[in-house]
Amino acid sequence: MTDVSLRLEQPADDPAIECLLDLGFSSNRRQRGVYSLRAPGGQAFPVCQVAVAAGAIVATLRFWPVALAGYASVYLLGPLSVAAAWRHRGLGATMVEAGLALVDRAGIEAVVVSGEPDFYRRFGFVAGAPLGLVLPLPVEPERIMIRSRVAPPAQPLGPVSRAAAAVRPPAELGAG
Ligand SMILES: CC(C)(COP(=O)(O)OP(=O)(O)OC[C@H]1O[C@@H](n2cnc3c(N)ncnc32)[C@H](O)[C@@H]1OP(=O)(O)O)[C@@H](O)C(=O)NCCC(=O)NCCS
Repeated sequence: MTDVSLRLEQPADDPAIECLLDLGFSSNRRQRGVYSLRAPGGQAFPVCQVAVAAGAIVATLRFWPVALAGYASVYLLGPLSVAAAWRHRGLGATMVEAGLALVDRAGIEAVVVSGEPDFYRRFGFVAGAPLGLVLPLPVEPERIMIRSRVAPPAQPLGPVSRAAAAVRPPAELGAG
């Protein structure tokens, strides 16, 4: 993929990202239960990326800090959205791989996602429901997945909840 590049999300990207998400998930997406776990503006900026082609944002992947008992740090993956014209070229997978590499480098212990198992399994996610992982959302149990870099705490894992602390944007953190 030569004509697209990834970079960290910046606060000024927000309008273009929101537009891309409306196209990918429909404009009533904020009513989905998963949004209750995402503090507005609280995405983990140092690991959120966009893909840019010809100056336009064509894909977005965000992560959000959440809380899960037994883990010191957990992120919720998503939303992931690739512009229709850019799908089926490996960009979605590239975004997830690159995002998880940043998350791993940041020392985050686990990542949870509500998504398609056939897509996320390739990145090391496993079914969360058999481990007792619960997302407080109306979501099919088979879509709940977790990727853990440390030995899981005692099972059942229990419910994921919204993290209390807000995450500052990269400008304040001094990151790219
Ligand atoms: C899902 C999405 C991010 C995939 O982006 P992409 O750039 O096309 O993904 P990739 O090219 O890296 O991988 C595509 C492969 O992933 C798998 N895949 C993609 N979406 C899938 C889904 N919903 N269910 C199962 N497998 C899926 C398929 O094997 C697909 O192979 P194909 O291209 O031969 O059909 C994109 O379709 C999108 O933005 N959709 C709208 C938003 C959305 O539904 N996001 C939810 C992500 S769980």
